[in-house]
Amino acid sequence: MWKNLGLTSLIATACALAAGTMARGTGTYGTTETRRFQGVVNDANEQELSTKEIMGKAHKGKQSLFFLVQQDIRKAKPDWQADEKNVAEMIRLVSMLTKNNPPKGSKEGWDKLVQEYVDKAKVVQEKLKEEKVQESRTALNKLMTTCKSCHDTHNPK
Ligand code: HEC
Repeated sequence: MWKNLGLTSLIATACALAAGTMARGTGTYGTTETRRFQGVVNDANEQELSTKEIMGKAHKGKQSLFFLVQQDIRKAKPDWQADEKNVAEMIRLVSMLTKNNPPKGSKEGWDKLVQEYVDKAKVVQEKLKEEKVQESRTALNKLMTTCKSCHDTHNPK
């Protein structure tokens, strides 16, 4: 059993090293950019990201993980593995929001919404794993209800 764990951490280390080598520039978030595609859960050397940064990577614009997944599952032949990795990274990033304080509203409500997001994103992940296109789209639409809930309650802008 823990042989497996050993292997997993070895792979994680190898990926982290590879990401480090491949990352351009020395910006704090350079390695994260590369690691997103490897789905490596290892934020030991990742600086704490601000809410804005997390939203930027996960959700903002055409390069965001959310947008990539949304576009891809509209295709006749989605890249299931890439989509699943991207959703895994969305989960990892959004989970980090619990380390931040909401710009507005209660921390308790904030943490609850983060959990709701994670639960709904996990459903998306499951449907992607099962390669069910319609159900993946539906699950992603359900995930989007948490965007609005959180912005309405916690985003002062
Ligand atoms: C748990 C709360 C929460 C959830 C869930 C959430 N957001 Fe956000 N989002 C925020 C907050 C707070 C900000 C404002 C951050 C700031 O400007 O400091 C924000 C900002 C943004 C921005 C603007 C980023 C920028 O650079 O100005 C976008 C785009 C965004 N969110 C998209 C989404 C989408 C799409 C989803 C759902 C798939 C989502 N968010 C889910 C809290 C949340």
